[in-house]
Amino acid sequence: MPTEIAPRDRLIVALDLPSVADAEAMIARLGEAVTFYKIGMELTYAGGLGLAQRLGAEGKHVFMDLKLHDIPTTVERATRQIAKLGARFLTVHGFSQSMRAALAGAAGSSLELLAVTVMTSYDDSDLATAGYAMGVKELVARRAIQAKEVGIHGLILSPEETALVRPLIGPDMQLVTPGIRPAGSDVGDQKRIMTPALAIAGGADRLVVGRPVTAADDPADAAERIVADIAAAVALVGRTNRT
Ligand code: C5P
Repeated sequence: MPTEIAPRDRLIVALDLPSVADAEAMIARLGEAVTFYKIGMELTYAGGLGLAQRLGAEGKHVFMDLKLHDIPTTVERATRQIAKLGARFLTVHGFSQSMRAALAGAAGSSLELLAVTVMTSYDDSDLATAGYAMGVKELVARRAIQAKEVGIHGLILSPEETALVRPLIGPDMQLVTPGIRPAGSDVGDQKRIMTPALAIAGGADRLVVGRPVTAADDPADAAERIVADIAAAVALVGRTNRT
């Protein structure tokens, strides 16, 4: 049921750190400033599953960014295992078979699935090389519609794609966007970036932010500033929020 998302819960901090000890030290520094963490493949393969369980038990929200894609039985069984960790979000590649299988694996749990439409590192020529007869925008739109049809809870996409996709999927699916850079922060290796306020104003529900928080001199202060930007943008837009 759509209700409000608190501005703080709209910030998801990516724990792209090489060890569980590093991640735990960062989580301690961030304290109450951050309620939602993303654990990707690097940390998962460095022992991060236990950390995901502990974070969930401590009342934090956990986003497992594992981008599942395999035969349906494997995706379903893997999703069932991840649901047992108490995670809130899990990514799956936006192929109908994988999305349906992940939904079956998450059935009966509170795990929500986010579909990756097209990797943002792909451009039209990468798709042509892979044999696709359409460009990135068209494929993003097609997969967003398919994700809605199978009942996926949300999408991961570039902040530049939210305006294209929202009218195709209606108000209920959550749009989660990486590629966020507060004004004045290092761009790093991101190519298509947006500030937190612009991303929210453009239709994102939640933002994934890594280095602008984790590499800041004062990570908790950096997170608080982003939450304040998000809150101001939400108030300005005055749109219906979702959870
Ligand atoms: O440090 P930064 O804010 O660039 O981190 C962004 C996070 O979002 C990283 O964990 C990255 O893997 C993830 N991500 C992304 N672009 C995508 C999908 C995921 O930057 N298309």
